[in-house]
Amino acid sequence: MKIISLFIIFLGATKLVFTQTIVFGSCHKVNDPNSDLILTSIANQSPDAFIWLGDVVYGKDGDPEHLSKRFDQLKSKSSYQNLLQSTTVYGTWDDHDYGLNNAGRDYQHKDRSRADLFDFLNVPKDNPAYKRNGAYQSYDLSPKVKLILLDNRYFKSEYAPKSYNDPYSPDYEGTILGEQQWNWLENLLKSSAAEVHLIASGIQVLSPNHRFEKWQNYPEEYKRLIELLQTYAIKNPIVLSGDRHMSELSQKDIGYTVLYDATASGMTEALTNNLSESNPYRIGQAIGVNNYGMIALDWENRSLEFSFHDVHGKTLFAYGVNLKN
Ligand SMILES: [Fe+2]
Repeated sequence: MKIISLFIIFLGATKLVFTQTIVFGSCHKVNDPNSDLILTSIANQSPDAFIWLGDVVYGKDGDPEHLSKRFDQLKSKSSYQNLLQSTTVYGTWDDHDYGLNNAGRDYQHKDRSRADLFDFLNVPKDNPAYKRNGAYQSYDLSPKVKLILLDNRYFKSEYAPKSYNDPYSPDYEGTILGEQQWNWLENLLKSSAAEVHLIASGIQVLSPNHRFEKWQNYPEEYKRLIELLQTYAIKNPIVLSGDRHMSELSQKDIGYTVLYDATASGMTEALTNNLSESNPYRIGQAIGVNNYGMIALDWENRSLEFSFHDVHGKTLFAYGVNLKN
């Protein structure tokens, strides 16, 4: 947590503003010319945390050697080393850093990929996540902010309709998290005293209508997540998602509170193809240039700002909300 002193000349008084900034992003190709630019821009923000939301690197489908090399290549870049010096880095995976496009529990090299991911992220060796299958983890970014990194790959059943159609066919039987991870998540949430819960998910939770991977392809899993938040009245839940090669902020009233889904995708891989897709929960416009997302918390005023920034750090979108008690 940073304490910034603002000197208010008009009043001749000193006002303390407590801020905590958390940056996040996804869909990053290590050889892209924008990679160094965006990693440097994020390091220049000196955020309190940086969170990878999957597709950290792109391995060749089904080639674990190639994936390992990509992780090594990223980790050895000076721009990434500078980022590691400027903040604490956390992360989970999506399909391309898991090893195979849209893959799930049947992917044969998944344990090797988990070892590579945790090695890349410098997950501390005493972290209980090593004793479990999959890549799910949790961290207290401060006493008030809990980070929950979900794993949407290791336990995910194959999407029953096999291919993604438009309109899509929901899979009512399949799972995203698997029982072991669901139990872990429930135990974590019901005992949490945090005031803000950041729930990282490679794929989007709220956006319902597009034809790509999303929680709403598995309606029972989506319902279970929302009901879990409702059951324990989890304070200020915010999903952080990636995968989509575009960024957008979604919000949905879930009864006791508002759930946000901040999708930050395309650190180097942003596209404009799907910017006009229907999403009844979107606030403002979707973003189709390479970018990263940021949450800035102001504890004194109990407010939070979502923002997205281009590779140079320029603000593309900002939206402020009050924290709920
Ligand atoms: Fe993905």
